[in-house]
Amino acid sequence: MSKTITFHDYQPQIESLKNAVIAGLSKTAKSIPPKYFYDERGSKLFSEICEQPEYYPPMIERTILSNNSDEIAYLTGTDRLVLEPGAGSATKIRLLLEPLQPSAYLPMDISCEYLRYSAAEIVDDFPWLPVHAVCVDFTHSIPLPEAAPDSHKLAFFPGSSIGNFTPHDARAFLDMVRKTINPGGMLLIGVDTKKPTGILNAAYNDAAGITAAFNLNLLHRIRDETEADCNPENFEHQAFYNQQLGRIEMHLISRCRQTLHLNGDEFLLDEGESIHTENSYKYSPEEFIALANKAGLHLVQHWLDEEALFAVYLLKS
Ligand SMILES: C[S@@+](CC[C@H](N)C(=O)[O-])C[C@H]1O[C@@H](n2cnc3c(N)ncnc32)[C@H](O)[C@@H]1O
Repeated sequence: MSKTITFHDYQPQIESLKNAVIAGLSKTAKSIPPKYFYDERGSKLFSEICEQPEYYPPMIERTILSNNSDEIAYLTGTDRLVLEPGAGSATKIRLLLEPLQPSAYLPMDISCEYLRYSAAEIVDDFPWLPVHAVCVDFTHSIPLPEAAPDSHKLAFFPGSSIGNFTPHDARAFLDMVRKTINPGGMLLIGVDTKKPTGILNAAYNDAAGITAAFNLNLLHRIRDETEADCNPENFEHQAFYNQQLGRIEMHLISRCRQTLHLNGDEFLLDEGESIHTENSYKYSPEEFIALANKAGLHLVQHWLDEEALFAVYLLKS
């Protein structure tokens, strides 16, 4: 069988890490957007996080997808163009490819080298499937290459990546997805639920320290890819559930009073001061369905595990 893989590089309009660091450290409440986690090492560390026993979402989401793959394919029909923004290692889509029989698969990611690697693995294992790997920043656009088949679309957005947006931005992103998949489009999306704080705090503070290494990798990138005199040893990982805002927050906490120099500027960090690196909003099914409705997406079906730790929604426009 012929293997078809095409790469489309939309040169993610990702402002340079240096500019993002300067902008983020100039704020009163310092922050750097989570998309900068994902260089090749960051992508590998994220795959390792997914193997940690405390980090429950991937295992439960995989179980929901594999237990319900036939029903999902029955509801979507076959021969759709399947696109996956932020595909990463593209492991979850594997559970659905045989039942869905897509006309083509479009993994999209900002981490281009990692995308090349995971797209090539898909083609090796599913030689009948045309693959168009799209290197892009999905916060700006979700481009569909002209060479891709013009069939009805199914967007796949697992991993509760929607939780990394604020609810306002999540609605805007869902709106962009709806416009991309119309007409007749569907969205299959995995979303983490609200649950006891102890489970959430343990999930983002795994005993093996992989989430900490992932968070601190941002400082390694800053040290290696900009001329900032940044010492990762001077920071520690912090993650906690903010009950009021319904989100996990990840921070890099300065262990001492220190000054970072970059581009002729000086950035003072007090001992205990934070650089906020990620949010992961949690949604009850009612909250998420209401959010999707506001973006013009309507529930077809949803599935939860027995303990309601994670949910997968099939929506249509
Ligand atoms: C948390 S991982 C999830 C991977 C996969 N979807 C899953 O559920 O296992 C997020 C992925 O999205 C990619 N990503 C993050 N921000 C992105 C952006 N703005 N544009 C494109 N890809 C992005 C990362 O490189 C990474 O591969």
